Amino acid sequence: MHHFAYRNGVLHCEDVSLEAVARELGTPAYVYSDATLRRHYSVLADAFANRNVLIAYAVKANSNLGVIATLAEMGAGADVVSGGELMKAMEAGVPANRIVFSGVAKTAEEMKIGLTRGIHQFNVESLPELHRLSKIASEMGKRAPIAFRVNPHVEAGGHAHISTGSAEHKFGIAWHEADAFYDEASRLPGIDPVGIAVHIGSQIMRVEQFRAAWEKVVALVRRLRDRGFAISRVDFGGGLGVPYKDGEDPDSPLVYANQARDVLGSLDVQLIFEPGRLIAGNAGVLISKVEYIKERDGRTFVILDAGMNDLMRPALYSAYHEVLPVRTPALGATRSPVDLVGPICESTDRFAKDRSMPPLHEGDLVAFMTAGAYGATLSSQYNSRPLVAEALVRGDACVVVRRRPTFDEMIALERAPDWIASG
Ligand code: LLP
Repeated sequence: MHHFAYRNGVLHCEDVSLEAVARELGTPAYVYSDATLRRHYSVLADAFANRNVLIAYAVKANSNLGVIATLAEMGAGADVVSGGELMKAMEAGVPANRIVFSGVAKTAEEMKIGLTRGIHQFNVESLPELHRLSKIASEMGKRAPIAFRVNPHVEAGGHAHISTGSAEHKFGIAWHEADAFYDEASRLPGIDPVGIAVHIGSQIMRVEQFRAAWEKVVALVRRLRDRGFAISRVDFGGGLGVPYKDGEDPDSPLVYANQARDVLGSLDVQLIFEPGRLIAGNAGVLISKVEYIKERDGRTFVILDAGMNDLMRPALYSAYHEVLPVRTPALGATRSPVDLVGPICESTDRFAKDRSMPPLHEGDLVAFMTAGAYGATLSSQYNSRPLVAEALVRGDACVVVRRRPTFDEMIALERAPDWIASG
């Protein structure tokens, strides 16, 4: 469910025409829907009404301040994986006590920021990390609330590159080490072991795939409690998928929530989730303009002004994004197979091969659908292309929530060394 639809032949985000956005912001540009973000958050939150739950939005999916602030206003917490994400979440209004700090390589500096701000929890992924955190916390006269992220040795995830829960992945502590690591944590002066966390992958379509991992976590909580640990939180991670293609039908947040209730049974804990894609995925599109149509060797290349640096998912994961013309094609227009490519000097700068598209011409606009998660956040300045603008729409209002930097701004952080003769 999202709020992008055709009106009078033009694709709109809520009440705003994407043609108008393109005129105002230029292209390429990301456009997000406030109503869609809010709906996704509340569907999940409502499914847990009356339960002690913290929905910590995974900021890596879309870290635009406007997006985080929208969710913060709804009551969301934040799952962050860097000092930068932590600062952004706080700037956007997420209270520290709703922030979970995940990630395999927290630096001393990042730990200090989290401890100074008094965040809810650090998800710890190794023994050396635990020891560093304890040392820093004790030096600051604090105790860091932690959950170990356990690696449940469960295979799941929409693509090999976004699965995280099996033994070969770098994430989490080994399942069989958990008891010993909690013993160790309880002996450390700067650590308060309060929870257990798990995250097995992303773009997971069936909730059944989470079940084994969640059941392992619950069994571990019971065992640790029996051994005298005051485990009061479980973090089930993120990972529920969204439809990218017609016909894809991931399990709903309600089914997901029901399974979580079922697995938890009577266990009295704070339940934490870290959804990213589920909330932001189909709340955003990337609009792009056709620069050229190139016919060669029997192929038609539709060359867009968006490149793999702006939307990396197809190049990185062979991910599929539906591409819609912003203006509906004329009645009876025939579709034909084209390659949708960008301007970057790389063969992988191809969004789709042999994609059946209606007729497209120079200057036409297209929209990459379901680009709200891992779109702008994965983008880069490759080929010295300034990061693209981002807009947030609410009803008939459209606000630029990240403006496109000028070339001068892009260059300003760099300098040539003094030994270059200035001429
Ligand atoms: N929690 C942790 C610890 C994570 O590593 C992730 C995502 C999430 C939560 C949120 O997962 P989600 O609910 O969004 O599935 N760039 C890839 C996805 C990478 C996901 C990384 N971790 C993509 O574009 O498909």
